[in-house]
Amino acid sequence: MSEPDAAAASTTVVIFGASGDLTRRKLIPALFSQYRRRRLPDDLRIVGMSRSPYSHEEFRHHLCEGAQEFASDGFDAGDWESFAGRIWYQPGDANIAADYEALEAFLRKLEPGTANRLYYLAVAPAFYAPIVEYLGKSGMAREAGGWRHIVIEKPFGHDLASAQELNHTIHAMFDERQVYRIDHYLGKETAQNILFFRFANTIFEPVWNRNYVDHVQITVAEQVDVGYRAGYYDQAGVLRDMFQNHLLQLLCLVAMEPPASFNADALRNEKVKLLSAIRPVTPRDTVRAQYEGYCQAPGVADGSQTPTYAALKLFVDNWRWQNVPFYLRSGKALAGKVSEIVVQFKCPPHVMFERAPDRRFTPNILSLCIQPDEGIHLKFEAKVPGSVQETQSVDMEFHYRSSFGGGTLPDAYERLLLDALNRDASLFTRSDEIETAWKLIDPVLQGWETPDAPPLVSYQPGSMGPVEADDFLAADGRVWRQGCIEYG
Ligand code: BG6
Repeated sequence: MSEPDAAAASTTVVIFGASGDLTRRKLIPALFSQYRRRRLPDDLRIVGMSRSPYSHEEFRHHLCEGAQEFASDGFDAGDWESFAGRIWYQPGDANIAADYEALEAFLRKLEPGTANRLYYLAVAPAFYAPIVEYLGKSGMAREAGGWRHIVIEKPFGHDLASAQELNHTIHAMFDERQVYRIDHYLGKETAQNILFFRFANTIFEPVWNRNYVDHVQITVAEQVDVGYRAGYYDQAGVLRDMFQNHLLQLLCLVAMEPPASFNADALRNEKVKLLSAIRPVTPRDTVRAQYEGYCQAPGVADGSQTPTYAALKLFVDNWRWQNVPFYLRSGKALAGKVSEIVVQFKCPPHVMFERAPDRRFTPNILSLCIQPDEGIHLKFEAKVPGSVQETQSVDMEFHYRSSFGGGTLPDAYERLLLDALNRDASLFTRSDEIETAWKLIDPVLQGWETPDAPPLVSYQPGSMGPVEADDFLAADGRVWRQGCIEYG
């Protein structure tokens, strides 16, 4: 199947799971913000489907509250009125074939002849396969006159086998180029900027390798606990929820080779090459932990062994990164919300300056801060004024908010929805990429079931994780960098 020659002039976004949280908090606010910036196709409509018995008006009202609360660049009642005129609702059950016929009939009434369609699956994972199959069997995936794309949320599979099975189901109905698997971290401005930082400048890439880099740390710390998502989370745990997707994607961006061009295939080929080069992780290169009180949260099984925190040490077996450790950590109920990549460089080979015996030489540290204080920090040594030979670490900083104006950065979903509408899959995950990531995570999960597994340790909510995670780095003579806030 090849792409239809020309996109139709008219486009419909069909949201399955339209009454859910994702639609109200993310999708509609993102589309509304893009509408206000005049970035959406002129003739675009949004049709929501779910089981709730909304009228069109009730549905718009429900979404309006979400837009007021969550739109990244504010709310304007007049703009909402005209935007809401493009929103429609069709009640339906994702497991009933007749409801797809009714949806198709409704769409045909709204659409002028031919139209493109973006099907967005904002539903629980159990519905992915049935919706894909019903869309395929009802002919709604067929591209006659306009394209048909499908956006699939995470989690994409529970392990390698289920991800492969889901890919198989999807490929029976849709061509890979029609499929947009979301990882919202890739839509974050600061995550995208990693590639620009590395490949739109000349001075960083020459030192971006094992000759100069001592190690890399990737931290995605969350302050929130599992909250109302315990039912899902207790089955998933931190490796499936955060590592298989977000942390490995950040690792790809920081460690991949430069693609020859900035297009979806070139980028994703490099990411798959990087993921395939990661050495299998042994249980002793991991820490797993659970915050105190997790088992008392509603929805968590008694005595649950689900980790809410993990730290992993990875190695990339290629020429550039041989023997450079990548330490990844993520957890819930931690001291703060910080996502950051720290590249720690090697110490100078010889230091001619005299230093007090208790003063260690501080290596250069580059910190790419994804959130909350989006920016980049470079820590280097400077001579302390008035001293003869004393040095101190100082910080060279770039902050988005001061360099690009004070406004909030666009939400990740704004960029991703726009890209999907513009048929650019660069920031979406390809089937082989997702399976390669699972190939790495599955054995870690299995290793945690064996006698070699590290014990599940606990940590205090509001801390930066278990002491075992500090010991883990200390054993290599290293320390965790405590987030970009430290360098601010
Ligand atoms: C989601 C996870 O993918 O990412 C959540 O399922 C997590 O558990 C969230 O809280 C974190 O995203 P962000 O953008 O808030 O860092």
